[in-house]
Amino acid sequence: MSVTYADWNGEVMPLEEVRVSVLDRSFLFGDGIYEALRVYGGKPFLLREHMDRLKRSLKEVSIDSDVDAMEKRVLSLLAKSGVKEGLIYMQVTRGVYPRVHKFPPKGTKPNELIWVKEFAETPFADVRDAGGSVLTVEDVRWKRCDIKSVNLLANCMAAEAAAQAGCQEALLIAEDGSIVEGSHTSAFGVKDGRVWTMPLGPHILPGITRALVMKLANRANIEVIERCLLKSELGQIDELFLTGTTSEVLPITKVDGKPVGNGKPGPVTLKLVAEYRKEIEALIAGK
Ligand code: PDD
Repeated sequence: MSVTYADWNGEVMPLEEVRVSVLDRSFLFGDGIYEALRVYGGKPFLLREHMDRLKRSLKEVSIDSDVDAMEKRVLSLLAKSGVKEGLIYMQVTRGVYPRVHKFPPKGTKPNELIWVKEFAETPFADVRDAGGSVLTVEDVRWKRCDIKSVNLLANCMAAEAAAQAGCQEALLIAEDGSIVEGSHTSAFGVKDGRVWTMPLGPHILPGITRALVMKLANRANIEVIERCLLKSELGQIDELFLTGTTSEVLPITKVDGKPVGNGKPGPVTLKLVAEYRKEIEALIAGK
């Protein structure tokens, strides 16, 4: 297996050699922010958007970190790694301090981690053509899911429940029955050729892939409506798909064991899969 390179507070080393204190706030409280972005053909995809979201999340929780300096280190680590098809992961924690709930004093140094991993195989290649399945799970997360916090226990529990049920992803359902998003993806429904998705707000992550897919839909004259879709409406929709950094545009053909529409990836989803692919090809070709 190839080495996964890491940049730990500016020092480059193999990922397995990175050591962190048990007093790191992220270890004790989940007090940290992260980002993940794809590498295609050795190039970072949507880097600007991911760095901007990292900046925003850090600001929302008052972690003071130099994201512009981190961006330079991301590019340099990617070049050193030689990774062509993979993932860049970034995490910034509030740093190391004796365990107290309130924030440590100003000037406590955040811990900054970046790694670049090569994919052994293309994620979700097996389900992209036939379509995947999801399990609906109650959304028990906090009220600031727009912040990309590493505090992901509720997401992990939902993803595990889905995996136990033989599904690729969990679809999180709010108390009022609305489909919020996946445990690590954004969710879209299609009805009569129009695309429906949850409006942005504190209850969902502003997905970078979501934003790109909405732009691609617009360009392809597919109407996108930002209005929540209810679980009770699932029986009436024609198509369902998820979007995310590693999921890209993923057709979903089964919810809780029942087929969506005719049980096959639909034309609107497939059009968006193709448009998304074109964006990746343009990146690789340097357009
Ligand atoms: N997950 N919603 C949630 C809760 C997520 O965690 C993610 C991303 C998304 C999709 O966002 P984007 O299109 O920007 O990747 C939506 C990342 C990939 C993860 O946790 O690994």
